Amino acid sequence: MRIGVLTGGGDCPGLNAVLRAIVRKGERVFGDEIIGFLDAWEGVQHRRTIPLSVESMRGTLPKGGTVLGTTRGSPLDSPDGVRDMKATMSDMGLDALIVVGGNGSLTVAEILAREHGLPIVGVPKTIDNDIVGTDLTFGFNTAVQIATDAIDRLHTTAESHDRVMVVEVMGRHSGWIATHAGIAGGASVVLIPERPFDIDEVCGRLIRRHGRGRFASIVVVAEGAKPLDGTIDLPEQTTDRFGHLQLGGIGSVVAAEIGQRTGFETRPVLLGHVQRGGTPTAFDRVLSTRFGVAAVDAVHEHRWGSMVALRGTEIVAVPLHEAAGRTRPVDLSLFTDVAEIFFA
Ligand code: F6P
Repeated sequence: MRIGVLTGGGDCPGLNAVLRAIVRKGERVFGDEIIGFLDAWEGVQHRRTIPLSVESMRGTLPKGGTVLGTTRGSPLDSPDGVRDMKATMSDMGLDALIVVGGNGSLTVAEILAREHGLPIVGVPKTIDNDIVGTDLTFGFNTAVQIATDAIDRLHTTAESHDRVMVVEVMGRHSGWIATHAGIAGGASVVLIPERPFDIDEVCGRLIRRHGRGRFASIVVVAEGAKPLDGTIDLPEQTTDRFGHLQLGGIGSVVAAEIGQRTGFETRPVLLGHVQRGGTPTAFDRVLSTRFGVAAVDAVHEHRWGSMVALRGTEIVAVPLHEAAGRTRPVDLSLFTDVAEIFFA
């Protein structure tokens, strides 16, 4: 078969490992030819490609980012987008397209498969771990490890100065990274989008903690965390050229409020894109590799409109419509029954 592949949306560690696995399984097991589209959907629409082979993917397993490049935006944003997609697929003689993407790209993939009959198989990726239908996405484990390493370091400086360190992590719609890194890093407070927070309650917790002689604290804030209505004002948010809301900055606001309300010395730390960069953990390399191999199997089984997913310990193919247009909230029992036990 001739199989196209693209990586869409924000990058995440493990993308190259997926591509390498697709190529390895496709080329060596089925004799497929794999065509890589550059810069996500734009590459398909404008036929910007590179051939991917076992040889060209050599050495990429531990590399962060994506050799294909990526961008936001989709063919559904332009009037000729779908027509361009179909023309590329037929003119290039492609039998299938593998879309490695997050919520946005997989929603587009579902529409293209269901409404326009394109032979698409999805692979879920995002550090945010918020895709419905899979127990985990690759990139998440790496992001949690990076955030945990940072928190470990922040503990020692916080203790030296008796400070409250407010660490902002990614997590646009869901608090997966914040909750896991908060548990792993021993945070005193974790604020997530799923549970609007009361800043007075947060300060109360920290004051009680100080009262017990614990003068240094770590507060983890997901970038999408929300204060209770009417409590504190967040800065105006801007959108990028694709209309994607640019988050980031809530950690500074929370740190300033804590400082003002408690009198404790407080510092904000914004981890930002550091969480998406660099080499994937061994766990993410294995998950990415399993996803890539399974995606090629799904293509050969003509499972159009599906995505590969982790369910328990198994890799399965699930309908893309399970994931499309939705986000997966953090497991609240993990938050309330585990993370909160360690809060100040
Ligand atoms: O890919 C998801 C994500 O990492 C979000 O957590 C974050 O809000 C967003 O991407 C940042 O996107 P960009 O790279 O466009 O700034």
